[in-house]
Amino acid sequence: MNTTKKAIIILLSSLCGTGGLAAQKHITVSTQNTCLALKVTDKKQLEQVYFGNRLKNDIELQTAALPAAAAYSTFGAGHTFEAALRAVQTDGNTSTDLRYVSHRTEAQGSNIIQTTISLKDAYYELNVDLCYKAYQKEDVIEQWVEIKNNQAKSITLHNFASSDLSFKAAEYYVTQFHGNWAEEMKMSEQLLDEGIKIIDSKLGVRSNQFTHPCFLLSLGQPAREDNGEVVGGTLAWPGSFQFCFEVDPLRNLRVLSGINPYASTYTLEKGKTFKTPALLYTYSNSGTGTVSRRFHRWARQYGVKNGSGERSILLNNWEATYFDFDEAKLVQIIDDAAKMGFELFLLDDGWFGNKYPRDSDKAGLGDWQTNTKKLPHGIPFLIEEAHKRGLKFGIWVEPEMVNPKSELYEKHPDWIITQPHRELSLMRNQLLLDLSNPKVQEFVFNVIDNILAENPGIDYVKWDCNRYITTSGSQYLKPEQQSHLWIDNANAILGVMEKVSAKYPNVCFMACSGGGGRMDYGSMKHFDEFWISDNNDPLQRIFTQWGGQYFFPAIGMASHVSASPNHISGRSAPLKYRFDIAMAAKLGMDMQPVQMTEEEKEFSRQGIATYKQIRPTILHGDLYRLLSPYEHNRTAYMYVSENKQEAVVFNFLVRKDINGDRQTVLLKGLDPDKEYMLLEINREAGKGKKSRISEYEGKKFSGDYLMTVGLRFTMSNEYESVVIRVGQSGTIRME
Ligand code: DGJ
Repeated sequence: MNTTKKAIIILLSSLCGTGGLAAQKHITVSTQNTCLALKVTDKKQLEQVYFGNRLKNDIELQTAALPAAAAYSTFGAGHTFEAALRAVQTDGNTSTDLRYVSHRTEAQGSNIIQTTISLKDAYYELNVDLCYKAYQKEDVIEQWVEIKNNQAKSITLHNFASSDLSFKAAEYYVTQFHGNWAEEMKMSEQLLDEGIKIIDSKLGVRSNQFTHPCFLLSLGQPAREDNGEVVGGTLAWPGSFQFCFEVDPLRNLRVLSGINPYASTYTLEKGKTFKTPALLYTYSNSGTGTVSRRFHRWARQYGVKNGSGERSILLNNWEATYFDFDEAKLVQIIDDAAKMGFELFLLDDGWFGNKYPRDSDKAGLGDWQTNTKKLPHGIPFLIEEAHKRGLKFGIWVEPEMVNPKSELYEKHPDWIITQPHRELSLMRNQLLLDLSNPKVQEFVFNVIDNILAENPGIDYVKWDCNRYITTSGSQYLKPEQQSHLWIDNANAILGVMEKVSAKYPNVCFMACSGGGGRMDYGSMKHFDEFWISDNNDPLQRIFTQWGGQYFFPAIGMASHVSASPNHISGRSAPLKYRFDIAMAAKLGMDMQPVQMTEEEKEFSRQGIATYKQIRPTILHGDLYRLLSPYEHNRTAYMYVSENKQEAVVFNFLVRKDINGDRQTVLLKGLDPDKEYMLLEINREAGKGKKSRISEYEGKKFSGDYLMTVGLRFTMSNEYESVVIRVGQSGTIRME
């Protein structure tokens, strides 16, 4: 047997710790620092008994136990609260009673251990596998469920959670991530009272427009950055999701996570398996900072396509031209982009449609032929213009959508999501294609496949998705399957994404959904980056990126400098402030260079050159949050390279303090014994601009000093920002 893929069958005998006696009847899912322990009772019911820090031995495991709670609760067999699984058996019995059958543990390479626990109904041929992948180094657990109907006829599933986690603490605080178009990823925390709190989406597609599939659960106290018990969870699913937090009268908490069961009753035919999406979660007893760093490390390794690779600094023509462009204008932008040091040009919406030209969002969507009036020489000409100036070339698509005013709709009105006898429900003048239909799946795949095949040299694809499901009917599914649409559509789009990313591993894909409407780890394994918001206003971006970074790493988070006043907020802010927040993630720009002054172009050129130096630390380093924009006038965070030799500290004033903000900034994550030098980078334009941290520059400080005494410099003005490079002496050049 292959040693890396060796299946180790362990029956009722694993421990959280690294040795000691076997804990009879316990099954543990452990990572380097954490442990989820389950127990099989005498009646062969499976219970969760512990979730927390990794334990050392059997005695600790026995005494750490929670009040027993079902590891995967079911409706009707004595369970009185919300159930993870509610199924109606073939004979109409509405209850399910799962009992332990067996479990197995399999090492997948050196870092992943998969545990599969097989359960079966005590009477019916209904099998449920609870599957856990434990990422050892990253301390992340991925959990999903496979429900198999081995009965002679179909059964009906009403609830089908991916996980059912139990907690016991004096108080529970949940942080949710919510918002809307142009204000994604706002954070708010609330104390849970007895009863149910639901965080969910019912949008089906672009399902994160109002709520993101992420939560922080803090035990015993509000979530803190560097201490306290906190669990972070996120569902790897682009469709409607639900997190249900239920505190019972004894103040036990159960958290059900999964596909939103709302209006999604699912008929499971005989012999078929229903596989839920995975919940990814981690437990930390050192606050939310640890949660984020674990997710980022996990994501760079497993969660984001090409997560340990490189990213290009791009210039996008969307806010530069919107739909109003021609070849000459694009070549001018490409030319200017190359001169400023950009690495990629992205051609956004508006390049296609002939019978119904895509000159606005009212027409053309679905007709993926190059518009010959705007681009008489086609896409290959633009690719060549970009490549000969040393720029990569990217293109925008929105393949799951159609405008009624399009050739595609004329040909296939039967492909859209709608309900009979109802008016067409338009959003941004467009309709959704029905991905439950295999012909539509093929069409969507072919849109991207054909564009890439017909235009060799495309390096980057921005895959957009600008509306959600409202009139949720399928013209393909049978009447009795209509409630499958949300689930089938999400699974189908994941299937298309997988096919595309498998065929084009070297093309960089950006997930966009009218901004951050599709940010989930189901999609992200097929995408290199995501567009977190259409709102590039730097002040708004500070909050959006702050929220986004709790679960998603900087390497995926595209952030663009755009014009001032900002096209969405109308707010004016200095170019430096706009640059600094974009540099704090994956830098890009959405501006027309001809509208920039020479001074602005020069500032941009220098900013891009600086970013190229610090990019490895930002994209591959560990994030440490220093000051929250929700709590302070100044927000600050830093990235530290894995070897702790380099760091970059970002400081932004979010509220003006009339006396100047004198907040001390204590750095984190450095080696206390190493010596560091500091340099303010990306200084304001104009020669001779004094460093904001001149008293620190050119001198050596220990990591310990920087982390315990910290940096003191006053920030006074609106839209003021300071970026500091921290390096080992000799590695950073004084400007
Ligand atoms: C919404 C995206 O978020 C924007 O960046 C842009 O690509 C437009 N769609 C184009 O229609």
